Amino acid sequence: MSSPPVGEPSVVRDADALADAAAARVLEAAARAIAQRGRFGLALAGGTTPRTLYARLAARHASDPSWARTTIFFGDERCVTPDRPESNFRMAHETLLVHLAPRPHVQRIRGEIAPPDAARAYDLVLREWGDALDLVLLGIGEDGHTASLFPGDPALDERERLACDVLAPPEQAVRPRVTVTLPVLSAARELLVLATGAAKADAVRRSRAGDTTLPLPRLARDDIGWMLDAAAAGDARSG
Ligand code: 6PG
Repeated sequence: MSSPPVGEPSVVRDADALADAAAARVLEAAARAIAQRGRFGLALAGGTTPRTLYARLAARHASDPSWARTTIFFGDERCVTPDRPESNFRMAHETLLVHLAPRPHVQRIRGEIAPPDAARAYDLVLREWGDALDLVLLGIGEDGHTASLFPGDPALDERERLACDVLAPPEQAVRPRVTVTLPVLSAARELLVLATGAAKADAVRRSRAGDTTLPLPRLARDDIGWMLDAAAAGDARSG
């Protein structure tokens, strides 16, 4: 699937088509990174939207040799033990990671330890990687948050730390979180935001229109990839 002009969203029919298109983008990014630098740094998104993508990668690309050169990171994590259903690691492990052979190296955010300690540890993990991440997969909430960077949270102003601990808004099922910060997203070679469903249309529209109360518009870059189903793109097409 050819990518749309920079800044234009990829609008696909439904979540299933989005999984196919996003899987192709992951494999393209992997091939490019491995050809150029011998390794691929991929950050996974949490939540529910990426499940179909991860299942598609597991079903059709589990034995792709690029996994041997891949390090998996996480854009954020809920501060729970990795066996809890709310864990982003557990979701990715069950839908994707356990199926891959060769196995990628996985840098899990340790949700089971004190959030400030987990954030400090992940800041070090990202610094030890020592380069920009090649592809960061992101979701977007109805309030426009991405990773665990929530509108109005001081974490949006973080410019030094690569990961920090936050307290998500009360409506979130799990409030203590660890998230990568905007410097990580700003440095990433590629960002791909996945969104499906009409409930996301307003957040997508506001984000793409540059509402800097939201995290993504604060990134000084105009090459953010958007992969949307028709419902989530509802307003974006007229945006
Ligand atoms: C999380 C995610 C978060 C998610 C959005 C969208 O830990 O919840 O990282 O940023 O991507 O909240 O979530 P859905 O895909 O479930 O709508």
